[in-house]
Amino acid sequence: MVSAGRRLPATGCPATHYHYSLDREPTTAGDYDTYVRTRAENEENQMKKYKHEQDQIANMKDYIARFGHGSAKLARQAQSKEKVLAKMVREGLTEKVETERVVQFNFENVGKLPPPVLQFTEVTFGYSKDKVLYSNVDLGVDLDSRVAVVGPNGAGKSTLLKLMTGDLDPLDGMVKRHNHLKIGQYHQHLTELLPYDKSPLEYMVSEYGQDVPLERMRAAIGRFGLTGKTQTMPMRKLSDGLKSRVVFAWLAYRRPHMLLLDEPTNHLDMETIDSLAVAINGWDGGLVLVSHDFRLISQVCNEIWTVADGAVTKWDGDILSYKDYLRKRSAALQKRTDLA
Ligand SMILES: Nc1ncnc2c1ncn2[C@@H]1O[C@H](COP(=O)(O)OP(=O)(O)OP(=O)(O)O)[C@@H](O)[C@H]1O
Ligand SMILES: [Mg+2]
Repeated sequence: MVSAGRRLPATGCPATHYHYSLDREPTTAGDYDTYVRTRAENEENQMKKYKHEQDQIANMKDYIARFGHGSAKLARQAQSKEKVLAKMVREGLTEKVETERVVQFNFENVGKLPPPVLQFTEVTFGYSKDKVLYSNVDLGVDLDSRVAVVGPNGAGKSTLLKLMTGDLDPLDGMVKRHNHLKIGQYHQHLTELLPYDKSPLEYMVSEYGQDVPLERMRAAIGRFGLTGKTQTMPMRKLSDGLKSRVVFAWLAYRRPHMLLLDEPTNHLDMETIDSLAVAINGWDGGLVLVSHDFRLISQVCNEIWTVADGAVTKWDGDILSYKDYLRKRSAALQKRTDLA
């Protein structure tokens, strides 16, 4: 049987700058697994060598500084260390592993589901009947959709995503999902739910089964920039940014048709956000993104919905015009309070 989810990323390998290369680009999934592992091992060796050299250099420099002007014997020793040092530099020092490399995320293409994939008809919702958040919401999301959901805090953006997944039911109206629709949802609390003493690799194995080859799991998390030691370190030692990537790897492994991302950029640095944008743009599924990050929105979304004042409304314009609107409105509000 051919197992699902073993396709190579579109570009063959993650974009990185490091100082050695394998003989050839990986061409099969097996190759890719080996590639990821070998790269991680090479990186680790290079880093060890770099550290060892730097330690030696620091010791020699220290000796030279302390004894270079000492007794004749010590000064001679210092001179000979100086020569060794010069020779090392001449022969070329090991370069530091570039840790700030560009991480390339990767979602596998999922094919098509015929519309309507996700449809709201006259949906009304509130956590209680007397506190309705919005009413008569009509909207549709297909696999071509790239929607940004914006609006003030507490307006009901996260709630809207929960209605989409079916975690919440409308008070009135109907939410219809395609029978085969697989939704992948990301919110930042998911990083808090990761098991702290498991490593990313152990976590993936516990989630997706012992019978999946370990190399495939390594590749799955490698695709989200978790390589080398970070794959086997306990989660509690990982930064929030790395934990977010574990969640993305976990999500991507399920091969969802549609991603619902609720504030995904909070723990991510700018480069990682760009990687996420590239991954989304190279992917064929649907996207609903709740974000305050206008830069990401402008990169990946072609439709904007505002959630405010009891309604979900399609914004007639791009994200820049929405930003402009917010700026003007806050200036007007400011003027009003100044006058008051
Ligand atoms: N489980 C809940 N029970 C009752 N009220 C809730 C619940 N979850 C959220 N609310 C309330 O519903 C409203 C909408 O919440 P929601 O989290 O959807 O807003 P949001 O637009 O995502 O806000 P933010 O920008 O702060 O994330 C808020 O007033 C919130 O306090
Ligand atoms: Mg929210």
